Amino acid sequence: MSVGSIALPMAETSELFRTLVESRRAVRRFTADEVPEDVIRACLELAVLAPSSCNLQPWSFQVVRDPALLQKLHPVCLGQSAAKAPLIVVVLARTGTWKQACADVLQFWPEPAVPPAVERFYTGPALFQYNQGWLGWRGLLKRPLLWLIGLRRAVMRAPSSPQQMRLWAVKSTALAAQNLMLAFQSHGYSTCPMEGFDEQRLKRVLPIPNDAIPIMLLAVGLPAERAVYNPRLRFPLEHSVSWH
Ligand SMILES: Cc1cc2nc3c(=O)[nH]c(=O)nc-3n(C[C@H](O)[C@H](O)[C@H](O)COP(=O)(O)O)c2cc1C
Repeated sequence: MSVGSIALPMAETSELFRTLVESRRAVRRFTADEVPEDVIRACLELAVLAPSSCNLQPWSFQVVRDPALLQKLHPVCLGQSAAKAPLIVVVLARTGTWKQACADVLQFWPEPAVPPAVERFYTGPALFQYNQGWLGWRGLLKRPLLWLIGLRRAVMRAPSSPQQMRLWAVKSTALAAQNLMLAFQSHGYSTCPMEGFDEQRLKRVLPIPNDAIPIMLLAVGLPAERAVYNPRLRFPLEHSVSWH
């Protein structure tokens, strides 16, 4: 296993990963120290290495460092102390970028020629799958069609409504958000994911696109004193895992 230019034995890699994951906590008090731009960029680069459905990368990030904007975000985040961080990254799931993304996959393909199967997929089935039409009318037609096909064989039934498009975008974006948190943690910066915010008021402070679902505002910074409120609590694994 190689990490950057350093070759690490597998046991060491998994131990490093365990340490990183275990060290991340939701931090609610930050110092005023700024997070350097190169660190923010490096972390965003790792965020977008998250897997995404059909690699359509339905996420965007708004990096807020401007003190005046941060001050406005504090009440938007219900006045919570984590929102006094020197950096807030607004993580947005996008339901309306899939069409451009299909074209972008072909444009940014990392080889001189796009394989024909890839080109066919992103100019055919992918467009059909994600296009729900105005107010979801295409999705409405697609659902009985998929049900009929599904009588004979396994078929992917979602997303086939605007609601399912929201879920579709949120799934991949949440993975990117977790990457982002772990990336900051690896650089020595703590984070607090916040869904405690007022979406309407957020839109008055930042230019949130119409198709965007703000899934969380990520507070980032160096931990201050008594930064973590409680000891770690997780339910026993048996509560959430079944083996077959
Ligand atoms: C989607 C999501 C939303 C959250 N919203 C908030 C929030 O608004 N304010 C807050 O202080 N913590 C928030 N948290 C942090 C959780 O409370 C925290 O992750 C949980 O208590 C477990 O603690 P740990 O992350 O330190 O292990 C949120 C976490 C997630 C994943």
